[in-house]
Amino acid sequence: MSYFSDLGLAEPILRALATKGYTDPTPIQRQAIPALMEGRDLLGIAQTGTGKTAAFALPSLHRLAANATPRKPASCRMLVLSPTRELAAQIADNMKGYAKNLNLFVDCVFGGVPITKQARRLVGGTDVLVATPGRMLDLIDNRALTLRHVEIFVLDEADQMMDLGFIHALKRVAAMLPAQRQSLFFSATMPKSIEDLGRQFIQNPVKVEVAPQATTAERVEQYVTFVNQAEKQALLSLRIRALIADQKLDRSLVFSRTKHGADRIARHLEAAGIPARAIHGNKSQAQRTAALDAFRQGTCPVLVATDIAARGIDVAGVSHVFNFELPNVAEQYVHRIGRTARAGADGEAISLCAPDEKAYLRDIEKLTGVKLAPLPLPADFQAEAAKLPKPTHKPNDDEDYRGGQNRNNGRGGNGRGQPQGRGGERPADGQPKRRFVPRGGPGVGQHRNKVSRVS
Ligand SMILES: Nc1ncnc2c1ncn2[C@@H]1O[C@H](COP(=O)(O)OP(=O)(O)OP(=O)(O)O)[C@@H](O)[C@H]1O
Ligand SMILES: [Mg+2]
Repeated sequence: MSYFSDLGLAEPILRALATKGYTDPTPIQRQAIPALMEGRDLLGIAQTGTGKTAAFALPSLHRLAANATPRKPASCRMLVLSPTRELAAQIADNMKGYAKNLNLFVDCVFGGVPITKQARRLVGGTDVLVATPGRMLDLIDNRALTLRHVEIFVLDEADQMMDLGFIHALKRVAAMLPAQRQSLFFSATMPKSIEDLGRQFIQNPVKVEVAPQATTAERVEQYVTFVNQAEKQALLSLRIRALIADQKLDRSLVFSRTKHGADRIARHLEAAGIPARAIHGNKSQAQRTAALDAFRQGTCPVLVATDIAARGIDVAGVSHVFNFELPNVAEQYVHRIGRTARAGADGEAISLCAPDEKAYLRDIEKLTGVKLAPLPLPADFQAEAAKLPKPTHKPNDDEDYRGGQNRNNGRGGNGRGQPQGRGGERPADGQPKRRFVPRGGPGVGQHRNKVSRVS
């Protein structure tokens, strides 16, 4: 079976796919869609950028349409949960596109925007609801939503949804869902311990694993430059400037460990003449949406983000991903660099590794089975760095990277057991609180036997 038309999807869905220009299903779509059309529970694992969204959206829409029932007040028939607002909005947009020739409503709710409008929209019910867990629970607590009629339950980025930050909400949700339902879990990463935890929410699932979990996207070239923390900013600005001058950079995402760090990086890039914006959890929703829109539309070629943008975000033409700091949870690396090299495109991922980050690099290489290629500092680095302009200083917004010890706000932080210099600011939003500690010998596939430890 190599065409969508061979999969038995309803004709209005095939027409919507044709409008998008999609003819062949991707491997995860080919393998997951038949089982999902039969109503099976499913655990789907496939690399970033390989079409997991359509893999759960198409067969679900097919089933909802085949089984038409009137919408019930404050209800949905399909619930999709996502860890971030931007990803929820993107999934809803995708689903609206696939459902455009069907008589099905797709709605989306998330925090940071007024709840009353969302509650009003839900009065008559919807067919598909895409949501972030917090706002969805608020709507339920306000009696604006019930999960009593959910037939299909999807967890996108399922391993993150079962992680510490979300597991409590997820357990509440699971207790409210009907026992008789179809459950679908998707991600590019699924540590064994989390998969085991997930089996309480899913019944006798078909497991489709297109590539071993945590396999990085096929066409991404991965590099690492060893550089002192204090020199990273100059290196980043020079690299991006050179890539733009050589017309090699289309769009670039830069990942920062902290929200303040993201602002600081964006300011330095701007000072060096590179249009850049930051997106993180301290920004208003309007600012977040505006930054991502500018990046999507190409008016701003560089987006500096916390891990809020690490998962699921699909922007065409991201040619480069930079890790300004290495993530301390290795799975997060797979997702971050997966913002490039999507849907068959090429991409480059460049990680800046300070001496105290080498343990993270080892974790990443062990998890992915890929050794990052060393990318040396430019020959004239010191001289060129000295010429870079500094941004104008803004009070209270430019603390030293290693400072700010008071930022934990009693929420745990990640200070314990971390290499020196990484225990300062609170972990950025979207960043998992878990840290995986690899066990056993080196080599590809070892990551499957890892255990997790709460830090
Ligand atoms: N069959 C197909 N043919 C061509 N393009 C497709 C097909 N299916 C999906 N795409 C496109 O591929 C891109 C990546 O899809 P998607 O965002 O679903 O990836 P993903 O597997 O969920 O990745 P991630 O793990 O990063 O969330 C999207 O732009 C999507 O529209
Ligand atoms: Mg996805």
